[in-house]
Amino acid sequence: MQNPFKPTAGRIPPVLVGREDIISDFDYAMMDGVGSPGRLMFITGARGVGKTVMLDTLGIRARQQGWEVIDETADCGFIQRLVDTLAGKEDAHISAYNMPELGVDGGFGKVELNLGRVELDRREERPLTLRRAVGARLDEMDESSQGILITLDEVQSGSMDEIRALSIAMQHLIREGRNVALIFAGLPSAVNEVLSDKAITFLQRAERYHLGSVPAEKVLEAFEESFGGEKKARMETLIRLTKATHGYPFMIQLVGYWAWRLSEINGHGEWVTEEDAEQGIERAKVKLGDMVHMPALRKLPAQAINYLLAMSVDDDVSNTGEVARRMNRSPQFGNVYRTMLIENDLIEPVAYGKVAFKMPYLRDYLREHGAYLQMRENISEMAGE
Ligand SMILES: Nc1ncnc2c1ncn2[C@@H]1O[C@H](COP(=O)(O)OP(=O)(O)O)[C@@H](O)[C@H]1O
Ligand SMILES: [Mg+2]
Repeated sequence: MQNPFKPTAGRIPPVLVGREDIISDFDYAMMDGVGSPGRLMFITGARGVGKTVMLDTLGIRARQQGWEVIDETADCGFIQRLVDTLAGKEDAHISAYNMPELGVDGGFGKVELNLGRVELDRREERPLTLRRAVGARLDEMDESSQGILITLDEVQSGSMDEIRALSIAMQHLIREGRNVALIFAGLPSAVNEVLSDKAITFLQRAERYHLGSVPAEKVLEAFEESFGGEKKARMETLIRLTKATHGYPFMIQLVGYWAWRLSEINGHGEWVTEEDAEQGIERAKVKLGDMVHMPALRKLPAQAINYLLAMSVDDDVSNTGEVARRMNRSPQFGNVYRTMLIENDLIEPVAYGKVAFKMPYLRDYLREHGAYLQMRENISEMAGE
């Protein structure tokens, strides 16, 4: 019996829970034609909420309609990789393109004076090169029914130069009436940082989808489907599994996967018992810590981790003034980190002056690993970081 759950980052799950709205909006945009607002889309949300899966899912929809889809990750050199893919070759370097005109409009922001000539040229060449590469590829296609979709994952401000270039290129292509679409994805704070750049006003108009948890009844339906064949579970067990997920997509895969596995380990064959479910949920929580909480915390500044640690003392909601006191800081100081953590869906405001954990099981993780996290911070302080 094959386990139908796939707790692997970026893997399209066998049963995709929720997300019908965004898929139908995208389908509509494909049908709606050139210039449809849904052809420029931003997907944000916490780690493990299903951003990459959404990019892949929408990419599949586009391919089914005869579109060409290019998936890229927004790290250094992605524009070059896009151009290479479009040109169908690995060695089409930007510098090899011969471009007499450099009259690209749209500001580049302030160009630092200490930039070498080469770098300046590159900045101006990139959008034009990409625009031409997309145009040339489209010329080979039947543009009345086919187009090019670019998906860009893990958007972060470190690639701002290239994101600017992509923005300018897309703006021109859309203005020229070409059949193109662009979908970006990233953590909310990273996307906000990128969008605050004045040179990409065009991208700021993109439709924004913030992915959150999916409704419990949808999770239950998915579990009923997955545990309704070779391996079954009683309704109360399914409800227990559903509750343990908190509707958080990565946890759906982890809970399902480990309940299934534990039923096998415990030799229960066709059934997932309450015992299997309970043990599976425990395993799922540990994995969630390793695969989601730890990497998320690693990306945060030390004071943001301290804020979370100060919150984890409470069993329920936390008072923001009290959290700042525990940190030995002013409320204003605490507020900076409160805002950052809310933006990243790790915590949420629940009432005036009150915050609560939003990411499932993060409190438990912090309580278990608090000493370690504190030690790491002390070490980095000693090192003067
Ligand atoms: N709508 C969904 N329903 C069920 N599982 C999902 C859904 N979206 C994502 N997942 C699962 O959650 C995990 C994380 O998804 P991923 O797209 O990598 O998240 P992100 O890119 O936001 O970090 C994967 O195992 C994936 O299969
Ligand atoms: Mg991802």
